[in-house]
Amino acid sequence: MEYLYVPEPQALGSMAARWVAREILKLPTAVLGLPTGSTPIEMYKVLVRMVQEGLVSFAQATTFNLDEYVGLNADHPQSYATFMREHFWSRVDLPKESVHIPRGSAPDIVAECLCYDEKLEEAGGIDIQILGLGINGHIGFNEPSHNLQTRTHVVDLTPETIEANARFFPDIDSVPRQAITMGIGSIMQSNKILLLVSGEQKKEILYKTLFGPVSTEVPASILQLHSELTVLTDILHYI
Ligand code: GLP
Repeated sequence: MEYLYVPEPQALGSMAARWVAREILKLPTAVLGLPTGSTPIEMYKVLVRMVQEGLVSFAQATTFNLDEYVGLNADHPQSYATFMREHFWSRVDLPKESVHIPRGSAPDIVAECLCYDEKLEEAGGIDIQILGLGINGHIGFNEPSHNLQTRTHVVDLTPETIEANARFFPDIDSVPRQAITMGIGSIMQSNKILLLVSGEQKKEILYKTLFGPVSTEVPASILQLHSELTVLTDILHYI
């Protein structure tokens, strides 16, 4: 594991963007796994700027988003598809057909999960996975549980997650109760993982993630078993 400390949140975004840019320059056809949430916003902003300046291109890349809320269609203001369109997809040179996100409003959600995994498999899996960290240790929407699922599946969101994500919705009752998420197996099979963690409120969960026991109750702790994990954070832990 590589632990990269940055003294402020702003720098975290630019460091993350440069890390991703280096990977894309090395492998322009990379399959990227992408997160949403507030933590990666600055990274996307800097990547957009780098594309506009001609420093990097996503023209040959493919992307798979980690997750989507069940019941929200791609045009819903709070869907992750809208988030991605606004922050990244519409601003870079990624071909439309190379962009993937689960369809939260698919009529058959189980079939949608299978179809997502098929596309992932056709693409050869994820080369570079970028992750945020939920306050309860979730990655994607793989919530704490007595077992973890390896492939794309539907998940019931925990009360902590519903509360944490209510800030993006008009009120807590509007937060969907379920989501589709890429499974832990697909995440762990990525060649490289970049974990982005920002804010003192995540100090304890980051500690448990990196130094606690590997446990399904802290899904992110499984990342300790990945051989190419880079943690980029503005939280100082002495290691
Ligand atoms: C959501 C997403 C996660 C993300 C997490 C943290 O629940 N499903 O993929 O990592 O939020 O978000 P934030 O960066 O806003 O703290």
